[in-house]
Amino acid sequence: MGRAFVYVILGGGVSAGYAALEFTRRGVSDGELCIISDEPVAPYERPALSKGFLLPEDPTRLPSFHTCVGANDEKLTPNWYKEHGIELILGTRVKSVDLKRMTLVSSTGETISYNFLIIATGARAMKLEEFGVEGSDAENVCYLRDLSDANKLATVIQSSSNGNAVVIGGGYIGMECAASLVINKINVSMVLPGAHCMARLFTPKIAAMYEDYYSAKGVKFIKGTVMTSFEFDENQKVTAVNLKDGSQLPADMVVVGIGIRPNISLFEGQLAMEKGGIKVNSKMQSSDSTVYAIGDVATFPVKLYGEMRRLEHVDSARKSARHAVSAIMEPENTGEFDYLPCFYSRFFAFSWQFYGDHVGEVVHFGEYEEGKVFGAYWVKEGHLVGTFLEGGTKEEYETISKVTQLKPVVMDMEELEREGLGFAERV
Ligand code: FDA
Repeated sequence: MGRAFVYVILGGGVSAGYAALEFTRRGVSDGELCIISDEPVAPYERPALSKGFLLPEDPTRLPSFHTCVGANDEKLTPNWYKEHGIELILGTRVKSVDLKRMTLVSSTGETISYNFLIIATGARAMKLEEFGVEGSDAENVCYLRDLSDANKLATVIQSSSNGNAVVIGGGYIGMECAASLVINKINVSMVLPGAHCMARLFTPKIAAMYEDYYSAKGVKFIKGTVMTSFEFDENQKVTAVNLKDGSQLPADMVVVGIGIRPNISLFEGQLAMEKGGIKVNSKMQSSDSTVYAIGDVATFPVKLYGEMRRLEHVDSARKSARHAVSAIMEPENTGEFDYLPCFYSRFFAFSWQFYGDHVGEVVHFGEYEEGKVFGAYWVKEGHLVGTFLEGGTKEEYETISKVTQLKPVVMDMEELEREGLGFAERV
């Protein structure tokens, strides 16, 4: 048994939802497009899972955060797909792909063929077992990548009120979850391998600002060490976390955010890979001309830096999706994907955005205090290449994005520091 579609999107996450909307805007016909996803729900805005979804009061729930509400665009409910003649095959895992035959085989044994395939399989959370630690399956150990993880986390949070949580990892998942745990009246200890949180992006000064705030809220940071094992009770529930430095942290629950791995295994040996992702050109087209890759799995040329990069951020998932669909449906009108890397996060009442590249010398500006606007510029070889801004307005974020894309010359670092946001507004 089998079905045939002109366009198949494999994966039903953020990029799939944005691609579907773009297909309808460019005139896809009934029955031409299908999305296959192993998640049981239509594409949604994944970032909501670590934010509104974990609030103790009036938490965000589907259908309110289906794509594409994150970009202030249409909300694509399951009914929307029906109305637009898009086949949504949910709760169905694709087990194998044969690119030569242009077919996929699903977990139910169905063969689906395509003329164009868009790979949108995203990434999965890295497990502690990959580092030799057992216990990920315990009922009070939580990861956060998809809706079922978020449901488990919300349930565990409810049963841990006034208890102790240990957060493993200080990236954005760790930081956003720690804030949510505090808001849910749980005592939080964060275990970070490095010297400060968000080590891949934050400077020590930016990190210190946020860490001080977290500490004032009772969060304990344990830095420069990793966990080595769990203690369990007779029901295999975790009761404590053992650290490499010999200490032990009591735990009613654990949240693990130690990074992700792109889901590319179905395509290994069939497509060219680079930097851990599927190598695509500036049209998001892979080494097989009928196959495109978007979102977290795609390693694409970032024109601005003359470099191939794989990005794990929602903005790039949305924009690469739109670009791929445009390249498939209107190749003659689609130029190169000219993407400015963008990343944001929100925790407590803080909200920041980062644009560009965090390399070179750093200049901080603004008032590094809660409720104030502050930020940083990265300057490489005399040009501004990256901008971080906390507490900006929509217009200010637009300004820093435009300026970072322009890579203006910076003559005087002290002057840049004095001018702060004024520099971006002036360019
Ligand atoms: P995504 O993971 O969204 O979707 C992949 C889909 O493919 C999933 O539905 C998966 O189940 C499915 N799939 C995979 N293999 C399959 C198979 N073999 N068969 C069938 N289906 C398969 N970014 C940011 O910039 N700011 C932020 O604040 C946040 N916040 C945030 C919070 C949380 C909790 C997470 C998990 C992630 C973020 N992100 C973020 C990152 C952002 O959400 C991420 O970059 C996008 O979701 C990537 O979109 P994709 O479509 O590539 O993958």
